[in-house]
Amino acid sequence: MNLMVIGGGGREHAIILKLLENPAVQTIYALPGNAGIARDAECIPIAATALDDIVSFARAHRVDFAVVAPDDPLCMGLADRLEEIGVPTFGPSKAAARIEGSKSFAKNMMKRYGIPTASYEIFDDAHSALAYARVCPLPIVVKADGLALGKGVVIANTREQAQSAIRDMMIDGRFGQAGARIVIEEYLKGPEASLLLFTDGESYRLMPAAMDHKRALDGDNGENTGGMGAIAPNPFVTAELSRRIESDIIKPTLDAMRAEGCPFKGCMFIGLMLTEQGPKVIEYNCRFGDPEAQTVLPLLKSDLLSIMTAVRNGALADADVRFSSGAACCVVLASEGYPGAYKKGVPIYGYEKYVEAGAAQAAGRNPASFGAAGQRHALSDVRAYFAGVAKGGNGELVTSGGRVLGVTAAADTLENAIASAYAAVVDIQFEGRQMRTDIGARALCGAESSYNAGEANG
Ligand code: AMP
Ligand code: GLY
Repeated sequence: MNLMVIGGGGREHAIILKLLENPAVQTIYALPGNAGIARDAECIPIAATALDDIVSFARAHRVDFAVVAPDDPLCMGLADRLEEIGVPTFGPSKAAARIEGSKSFAKNMMKRYGIPTASYEIFDDAHSALAYARVCPLPIVVKADGLALGKGVVIANTREQAQSAIRDMMIDGRFGQAGARIVIEEYLKGPEASLLLFTDGESYRLMPAAMDHKRALDGDNGENTGGMGAIAPNPFVTAELSRRIESDIIKPTLDAMRAEGCPFKGCMFIGLMLTEQGPKVIEYNCRFGDPEAQTVLPLLKSDLLSIMTAVRNGALADADVRFSSGAACCVVLASEGYPGAYKKGVPIYGYEKYVEAGAAQAAGRNPASFGAAGQRHALSDVRAYFAGVAKGGNGELVTSGGRVLGVTAAADTLENAIASAYAAVVDIQFEGRQMRTDIGARALCGAESSYNAGEANG
């Protein structure tokens, strides 16, 4: 089979390596991929948002199955376009992707169907938004309605901050059309959880809940980033809480999307705040998270291509979806200065021993080695997933983005996964390398307190 994966970050690398475990996969085209992904897939220099070019490529290369990983092309309708030309595609329709592409769509849907979320107001003109910011309770969260690369959310502790965020988005047009409409919502407190699930619109299967670390610096300080690391499973999401999330949030959300005429098929990502009043939705994403995918997919024991095919065909109820009972930790190595300005073209050293598992799997793909390859990924495995990398003059990998690569360790316990990931990152060096040293620390402390609470209740 020839597969096509749209996107070019660490998330796409993790998806590609999982897909390669299926012996029927011959070629994976990555559009555009990156110089690190090029070790495992054939990279084609077509941008993820160049819909016409992607469609032409798929037609010309007899693509048997496509995976659209990033939010932009999904919100632009790439999954619909590929299905129209007969390419079976994993990823929601344009109408279903509105769950991420329009915060006002998502908020109104939650209100209509009684799904717990922060209370909110929607504004289409700056004048009313600024007036509201003069009287609303503080702190308050100001969000651009559309996609803004994860940067369209401002937590304002003062009225001045709120008003400057509103001006930025609505008057100065910092996010273009995405900020023409804004949502102002209640500030929620609690640990966060990223819950990813496969769904064919009717059935769903949960992945282990993850915890992202969005701030740039240790102790959740510094600016918001795309994500500096993640762990799974998230110990704050106990079995009891998970059942509550399924009944109060997941089932009503899937029902609501069907009722709205846009059943959601693909990977749904629910960003949750675990508040004292119970779990509440912060946001929906219409895709795998980054770095959540690099954390959760290494724990998947079943065949990803079969699951994605079942999702697309509406047959998820009968699919084999099993995860390891272990844990994983992904630590992101970023360029100095990220999420602000950073240097590019810096040589990267020491990653070789963390890329071989994928290369070996790709080379030895046959039914006999399939189980072994799957097994190899299951426990105490360390692996590098490339994101912002390019080829230097001598063929070596150099930095080319803010988030350069992620190192994921999977192990029997969260503690061991964290230790293995941090042991591995010592080997991987580049000038200005920036990382957090506390990925998973809160989860480890939280694990103890929430397990104690569980025992006390039980
Ligand atoms: P988002 O882009 O919607 O995921 O928001 C980015 C981050 O802002 C989230 O991961 C939260 O940490 C924070 N955030 C968003 N909405 C709220 C809220 N209502 N209350 C508190 N924090 C929030
Ligand atoms: N890690 C958060 C996201 O992918 O949106």
